[in-house]
Amino acid sequence: MSGSQPTERTVVAKLRGQPTSDGAGVKLNRVIGTNALPDLDPFLMLDEFGSDDPDAYIAGFPDHPHRGFETVTYMLDGRMRHADNKGNVGLLGPGSVQWMTAGRGIVHSEMPEQEEGLMRGFQLWINLPASEKMCPPAYQDLPADAMPVVETATGASVKVIAGTYAGTRGPVDAKATQPLYLDIVFAEGGRAALPVPSEHNAFVYVYEGAVAVGGEAVAKGTLAVLRPGDRVTLAAEAPARAILVAGKPLREPVAKYGPFVMNTPEEIHQAVADFRAGKF
Ligand code: CO
Repeated sequence: MSGSQPTERTVVAKLRGQPTSDGAGVKLNRVIGTNALPDLDPFLMLDEFGSDDPDAYIAGFPDHPHRGFETVTYMLDGRMRHADNKGNVGLLGPGSVQWMTAGRGIVHSEMPEQEEGLMRGFQLWINLPASEKMCPPAYQDLPADAMPVVETATGASVKVIAGTYAGTRGPVDAKATQPLYLDIVFAEGGRAALPVPSEHNAFVYVYEGAVAVGGEAVAKGTLAVLRPGDRVTLAAEAPARAILVAGKPLREPVAKYGPFVMNTPEEIHQAVADFRAGKF
């Protein structure tokens, strides 16, 4: 913030996801939350789901609990219905986002609202600090048109889901982690120079085509973890799409057990006991 030239972020590591299944058997590609990358503080998990085979998604994610963090679902294609035990219901359609703060406990389901066709999107888990893990649950349903899209003069369009790009703010705020979540669509030869807060951890995930990230080629289905800096420059020779996600690290101990993410094993035992006792 000295007013000098921005420091370019470059790629420190490239990782492929790990095919897995979750919920009642939904096939997905786990990109964060694997043995190779257990987390990227404050991000606990990134799953990409994408299939036009109904057998890969039809069983959905029936009722399951969460405590201690936030889940962000970004639908690219297809429809999914959300319902939770706090009375929230929502239909996620193409381009929409569901931002759920599990806080002290919620039980929800995410079920496909289609029997055929393409279902594609991301689910990201963002940790909460110790001081907010037991906050009341919250839920925001954001239709596609709630997210502003900024057209650059250089052949890229930037959808702002969280954080700020070129003075345009996304609709979601998370106080502790101040996330930046951008979806960038590149035309042939498109490029974008994207500011990223210097104290944030950041990654780019390429999900269509190929993108040069800080000058390094990153193929479809690859996560690029970024070095510190306050800007990243992305460029694509052919049409491509990628998400850029960044967040302020919490630097707290992480105790993780399935859908519960707390700071200590004792808090995990308490979460399991509270869930079994019907306290969610
Ligand atoms: Co869930």
